[in-house]
Order: sequence, then C-alpha cells, then structure tokens
Amino acid sequence: MKIFIDTADIAEIREAASLGLLDGVTTNPTLVAATGRPMRDVLAEICDLVDGPVSGEVLSTTHDEMLEEAHELAAIAPNIVVKIPLIAEGLRVVKELTAEGIRTNVTLCFSPIQALLAAKAGATYISPFVGRLDDVGHDGMDTVAQILEIYNNYEIDTEVLVASVRSPVHVLEALRLGADVATIPLKIIHQLIKHPLTDVGLKRFLEDAAKIPKGKR
Ligand code: G3P
Repeated sequence: MKIFIDTADIAEIREAASLGLLDGVTTNPTLVAATGRPMRDVLAEICDLVDGPVSGEVLSTTHDEMLEEAHELAAIAPNIVVKIPLIAEGLRVVKELTAEGIRTNVTLCFSPIQALLAAKAGATYISPFVGRLDDVGHDGMDTVAQILEIYNNYEIDTEVLVASVRSPVHVLEALRLGADVATIPLKIIHQLIKHPLTDVGLKRFLEDAAKIPKGKR
C-alpha cells in the first residue's frame, strides 16, 4: 500500500519524506487555507519536493469553472492529480480530464455506489472519507471493503485511496483490506512509528550499554 501524507504544510512533508515512507501528498481547501498562502504557490513547492502524485483540489462547483481550474492545476507540474468533488458536474469533468490524460482524485466519497460512478467516469483515485463516516455512526472501513469488493468484481483500475484517516487502526485495516493508498496526517504517521515496548526496550538497552566496560579500540 502506498502512503501519502494528508497536509499542505511544507515542513510536515519534508519530515515525512525524510522518514523514507512518502509516496505522495494529498491536500484539500481546508489544509491549504491553514498555510495562509496561495494554492498555486503551495502546490508548486510541494511538487518540487515530492516525486509522487500531489493532489490539488478545484475550488469551484460548476462544470466550466472546475474544468478551467483543473487545467490550471495540471499545468503546475506533471505530478499534479486534480481533486474533484463527487457531484454530477464533477463526474462530467472527470470524464473529460480522463480523455485528456489528466489524472484525477475524486473526493468526498461516502458510498460504494458513488465509488463505482467515479470509476466509470475514469477516476484515477477514489477517496472514501473513513473518519467522517465513523463520525456519523457508519463504519468507514466497511465502505472501503465494499468499494474494493466491487472494484475487484469488475476488474476496475481506479485506485482506492483511504482518506480522513484518524487512527493507526484505520491504517491497519486499510492494509488488511488491500487498499491501494492511505493518506495519513503526520500526527498519525508518528503514532504508527511509536510503540511503548520499543521505548521500554530501548531504555533498558541504553541502561545496560552504560555498564559495558570501555575497552581499547
Ligand atoms: O483530504 C481529505 C481528508 O483526508 C480529510 O480528513 O480528517 O478532515 O475528515 P478529515
């Protein structure tokens, strides 16, 4: 499974890249707004740093405006993936972008049928928001399982990108289900690394290391 980081923060992206685990980046309007910088500048800087796919989202909702924005975003760098909301106008845009060879990430997916429709339109990635489904009493990972089952049944190539990841358990379940990608906030990446037994074990090794007599080199 590929690991993307879900952020528009350059320092966070550098840190994740330095850990050797970064396959790509996803951003959204909320994450870009938090940087206080223009979207284009942020995306261009991220694309300079990261070789893998970098998702940048359109900010409009009509067909013509989304298509125009998509072209502007795609022109920033070859690794840009245009993020389009899962609405009817969005699906039309995805179909056209796909025909032009522009990669898309269809976002705000909350049901397996929505995921099928995005795939039919030609989406490169589908982003089910598991945390937000959990927030309203649904099982986000069950939705991912159903999407994977449907895509598998019909040999659909669209990659399942698990988004709105809120815990290490979401990541573990995504791995067990065989999701293609999980996009993970830096805080959760750190939670994935950390284990109390690793910390206890290391402390003990360091204490014992201090007792080793110093020999001549
Ligand atoms: O980028 C989309 C998604 O990952 C957002 O997550 O935590 O705002 O639901 P969240």
